[in-house]
Amino acid sequence: MKITIFGTGYVGLVTGTCLADVGHDVMCMDVDTDKIARLKEGEIPIYEPGLESMVKANVATGRLRFTTDPEVAVGFGELQFIAVGTPPDEDGSADLKYVLAVAETIGEYMQEDKVVVDKSTVPVGTADKVLATVQERLDSRGVDLKVEVCSNPEFLKEGAAIEDFTHGARIIVGTDSERVKRLMRECYAPYIRLQEKLMFMDVRAAELTKYAANAMLATKISFMNEIANLAERLGADVEQVRRGIGSDPRIGYHFIYPGCGYGGSCFPKDVQALERTARDIDYDAELLGAVEAVNNRQKQTLFTKLSNAFDGNLKGRTIAVWGLSFKPNTDDMRDAPSRTLMEALWQAGAKVQAYDPEAMRECRRIYGERDDLVLAGDRVQAVKGADALVICTEWKEFRSVDFHWLKEQLAMPVIVDGRNLYDTEAVREAGLMYYAVGRGDSL
Ligand code: UGA
Repeated sequence: MKITIFGTGYVGLVTGTCLADVGHDVMCMDVDTDKIARLKEGEIPIYEPGLESMVKANVATGRLRFTTDPEVAVGFGELQFIAVGTPPDEDGSADLKYVLAVAETIGEYMQEDKVVVDKSTVPVGTADKVLATVQERLDSRGVDLKVEVCSNPEFLKEGAAIEDFTHGARIIVGTDSERVKRLMRECYAPYIRLQEKLMFMDVRAAELTKYAANAMLATKISFMNEIANLAERLGADVEQVRRGIGSDPRIGYHFIYPGCGYGGSCFPKDVQALERTARDIDYDAELLGAVEAVNNRQKQTLFTKLSNAFDGNLKGRTIAVWGLSFKPNTDDMRDAPSRTLMEALWQAGAKVQAYDPEAMRECRRIYGERDDLVLAGDRVQAVKGADALVICTEWKEFRSVDFHWLKEQLAMPVIVDGRNLYDTEAVREAGLMYYAVGRGDSL
């Protein structure tokens, strides 16, 4: 099957590569000429385990191609995937300018009937807007061609995107057209295991499903963070509570890990966008507002705990930070709790010595060279000469530590752990002061 993907960001590149990998002919289009030139060489712009070798292999077979030419892109696929960004507008709603620009391009260049597939995370009603935009172009060209638009939201997690694409829980397709259903079945047919997980529904239900799924997961996290804050003040250990409630299959163990708040490019943006959609139709989505508020407060807790440990005076202190990305296995620092922490530390006059296995370049790109930011070569260098240590991301390599050694490194033996990585007793036995999330006396 011939497939065009607009957008070679995270979603577009993973989708295009995975579809090429199972035998489809895929053309990825992007307006960024530099990015496309590098992709043609097999150099990928993001960090995603397993993706680079897969891109290289599929470019080599010729099944995965890249172009900056919109006419070539539109002419290529019978399915035209839109996988461009929807950055938040100033008011929190999703900005559709890139999505609609692709729709215009399709309307401008199409010479035969096409099916447009919305993969970008877009507010309910966008498929109708995309259809109207393509149709307008067709009308102004005076051509009589058929275009159909369906919604096929993505549920990829950064760091596990290939696995999520190939073994996802479901594929949602919003359409009422039999032709579109047939083509989408054909598109996903090589993934035998996914076939029975193909779910057809109304286009608006599909669009809302994407936001509902992310908002539900974000709600679970904020709920658990709320319980952690209560546990902390009540002298209970939230890790025991987590196991206690997770064992109930109605609740489950997934996404109930308390921590220093959710980050990334999806949850913060999608919860806000859904709230905004609600406001637009005069509905007060109180729960969503609370989920966001709890998360914003949670991101401050690392700094608050640290500041309390230093009696409110962090001026001139050097703080080691382990983990900068918003979660492990990615270099993405968008809305990462580490950023809230570092910015508060700088504000308070402290210096940061940070280490992350993948996000160092990204951190430098965001903050540039500055005297109060040292990017250390490894986790050992990061704690050398530091007063205290804060853990922001649960990378595997931070899980096992010689606490006696760590105590020797830190001028003030303080660890603030935003991910509850360690056994409280073991850390404290080594003489360290351990402030985790929701674990008894962790304030
Ligand atoms: C999320 C969803 O999980 C995907 O299903 C969805 O496709 C994607 O957004 C998207 O809309 O594109 P992602 O943002 O990559 O994926 O990362 P997650 O693994 O979901 O983690 C998000 C944040 O929640 C991280 O900061 C993580 O540390 C935090 N988290 C997660 C917790 O604090 N506790 C948990 O129990 C789980």
